[in-house]
Amino acid sequence: MRILVTGGCGFIGSALVRRLVRAGTDVLNIDCLTYAGRPENVEDVSGQANYRFLQADICDVEAMNDAFRSFRPDAVMHLAAESHVDRSIDGPAAFIRTNVTGTGVLLEAALAYWRGLEGSARDGFRFLHVSTDEVYGSLAEGAYFREGDAYRPNSPYAASKAGSDHLVRSFGVTYGMPVLITNCGNNYGPFQFPEKLIPLMILNALDGRALPIYGKGDNVRDWIHVDDHVAALIAVLERGRPGQTYLVGARGEQQNLDVVQHLCARLDALIPDSPHAPHWNLVTRVKDRPGHDQRYAIDPTRMEQEIGWAPTMSFADGLEDTIRWYMSRRAWLARVHDRGRLGDGA
Ligand SMILES: NC(=O)c1ccc[n+]([C@@H]2O[C@H](COP(=O)([O-])OP(=O)(O)OC[C@H]3O[C@@H](n4cnc5c(N)ncnc54)[C@H](O)[C@@H]3O)[C@@H](O)[C@H]2O)c1
Repeated sequence: MRILVTGGCGFIGSALVRRLVRAGTDVLNIDCLTYAGRPENVEDVSGQANYRFLQADICDVEAMNDAFRSFRPDAVMHLAAESHVDRSIDGPAAFIRTNVTGTGVLLEAALAYWRGLEGSARDGFRFLHVSTDEVYGSLAEGAYFREGDAYRPNSPYAASKAGSDHLVRSFGVTYGMPVLITNCGNNYGPFQFPEKLIPLMILNALDGRALPIYGKGDNVRDWIHVDDHVAALIAVLERGRPGQTYLVGARGEQQNLDVVQHLCARLDALIPDSPHAPHWNLVTRVKDRPGHDQRYAIDPTRMEQEIGWAPTMSFADGLEDTIRWYMSRRAWLARVHDRGRLGDGA
């Protein structure tokens, strides 16, 4: 199997690339290396013969057409994106460019390539688009996102991902290209850029800096470990029905404040002699994010019943592993940290 992965130097993309390369899949990783993309995220596998890297922008039409012609993938897994909501509020243009235009460029290159395939290569080709539950907007208590729900994106990030989802779907309907879409909840785990809630809180707590929480901190996110998400993506690529959308979630609803409380308690236990313990004392409230969605929660029934996928990592175990990983990677954190931002990022 030959898979073209975009955004493979980012958080989720690098976890996917590491798993695919280790499993023997031929991977071409296309990434333009924004602030969030780091080649060392895949250094464990980058020396393998079945791994190739192309530093290119997905908006570059010629580079994308060349990549399809020379690599000849069996499938595309598209993760390259601008991904941080706060940054989309400060500057939506980069989100519209990469997430909407870039996805459009990639789709056109894939279409031209797919149309030149024949027989089982054409039938077996897949374009998997990796998206977010945020396209569905905010939920009331007791409600769950399900495939087929109306799109109600509230941030420029969510709107740009909604636009890309619609483009992908349209290529399936209009041209018959075998596309798949996944919409997942909030990921956590190793190699996440420390502007998102969990790595930001770990980094700040280790350094004794403030732990900024937006508003009341009662916003609910549906957390999933990145390795469970990656396993879901591979399962959808293998077993998903072209044209379908799959909602990926681990039934991991938590209020932001509870996540931070849990994290502080684990840090207190792991570093009992820390001068910053109890870490909970570092929590400070900051002005709420404009348009901050109150609650996301996913009903993953289709993933469970149709794809036969289920998460394997409990939030408590996953968080413990993640904290230990960041504690052992202070050098990685120090290199990326000045490019991070304040705000609880969830
Ligand atoms: N992080 C989450 O919780 C989450 C949840 C659901 C869905 N997603 C989606 O999964 C995907 C990956 O998310 P992530 O958290 O790993 O993001 P990330 O910000 O960590 O990584 C994004 C990667 O894309 C690359 N990139 C950005 N613009 C590019 C361009 N124009 N051309 C080529 N490469 C470009 C970056 O260099 C980076 O390596 C995104 O599409 C995101 O919308 C993320």
